[in-house]
Amino acid sequence: MKRRVLVTGGAGFLGSHLCARLLKQECEVLCVDNFFTGMRRNIEPLLGEPAFEVMRHDVTFPLYVEVDEIYNLACPASPIHYQRDPIQTTKTSVLGAINMLGLAKRLHARILQASTSEVYGDPDVHPQTEDYCGIVNIAGPRACYDEAKRCTETLFYDYRRQHRLDIRVARIFNTYGPNMHPQDGRVVSSFIVQALRGEPITVFGTGMQTRSFCYVDDLIDGLTRLMNAPADVEGSVNLGNPTEMTMCELAELIISLTGSRSRLEFRPLPQDDPRQRRPDISRARELLHWAPVVSVNEGLSRTIAYFDNLLSDPREADKLVWKMPQ
Ligand SMILES: NC(=O)c1ccc[n+]([C@@H]2O[C@H](COP(=O)([O-])OP(=O)(O)OC[C@H]3O[C@@H](n4cnc5c(N)ncnc54)[C@H](O)[C@@H]3O)[C@@H](O)[C@H]2O)c1
Repeated sequence: MKRRVLVTGGAGFLGSHLCARLLKQECEVLCVDNFFTGMRRNIEPLLGEPAFEVMRHDVTFPLYVEVDEIYNLACPASPIHYQRDPIQTTKTSVLGAINMLGLAKRLHARILQASTSEVYGDPDVHPQTEDYCGIVNIAGPRACYDEAKRCTETLFYDYRRQHRLDIRVARIFNTYGPNMHPQDGRVVSSFIVQALRGEPITVFGTGMQTRSFCYVDDLIDGLTRLMNAPADVEGSVNLGNPTEMTMCELAELIISLTGSRSRLEFRPLPQDDPRQRRPDISRARELLHWAPVVSVNEGLSRTIAYFDNLLSDPREADKLVWKMPQ
């Protein structure tokens, strides 16, 4: 019998790669998405697969399906998307988690939550280990995402304690790769699109703030390993690439890989923007025998090729403007 796997947010950046990976692993995949930020083009290559099914559904409403495993990814991940309707963002995270946990309880299904490094907020511990509790500005514009994700983690642990649910929590750090939305405002996609168009590259603050970037294939490998790990994996697990770079270094690397003539343009730092982010992945190494293997140069080259292809296709050009779905 094939495992039947539900992926919420399956038409998004990470979700579409996860669906593809699960199909390769001989699973039946049910992709559930309301297409808030997800794109049909991300899952188009999968639509012909007999083991792949898509359902348009908003996870803030209950879902009645029969599956063996659940990956809960539904939630806009980039600040410009999740800040557009912050109340809906909190609802998607929290009500979505409640609905998916309820489904997992009814089905006795294992469930994995896509949590985030944003639960650490603007950290004063570096690199971040899973036992670090984080500093989040509860009233800030990022709180709808950060605090909602913290609340979903709490729900997951309470469902484990109260109902003995088999849960997994991945704290995902910045991930990039093909299928990112070109206008999601995240630094990798923005820099690449600006470089390919020869526009100035917008760097916030001094550009000395750091991030670590994980290529999507590595991240998906970590997620599936976490889902398939023995039942005694307790607690959240950081998944990300510990190689840290400043925003200026990233911009210069992208300029060199694209052969662009773009120059850097500095703008004020947005409120509550974290200064530093780097995962400590000791737990993932130990429990999942996982570590990223794709170099930044290799991952960026593949991502640049994806955006280059997208931007040079005139049929795609007018679809690239992100509009708030009705
Ligand atoms: N990409 C990253 O770097 C990153 C980092 C940390 C955490 N995460 C988490 O991983 C998950 C996926 O992120 P992503 O980068 O693929 O983002 P994304 O915006 O590309 O994908 C999110 C998907 O969820 C769908 N969605 C949103 N609200 C929904 C709702 N109410 N009902 C059903 N579907 C809904 C969107 O349409 C989209 O397809 C998110 O939960 C995010 O918080 C991502």
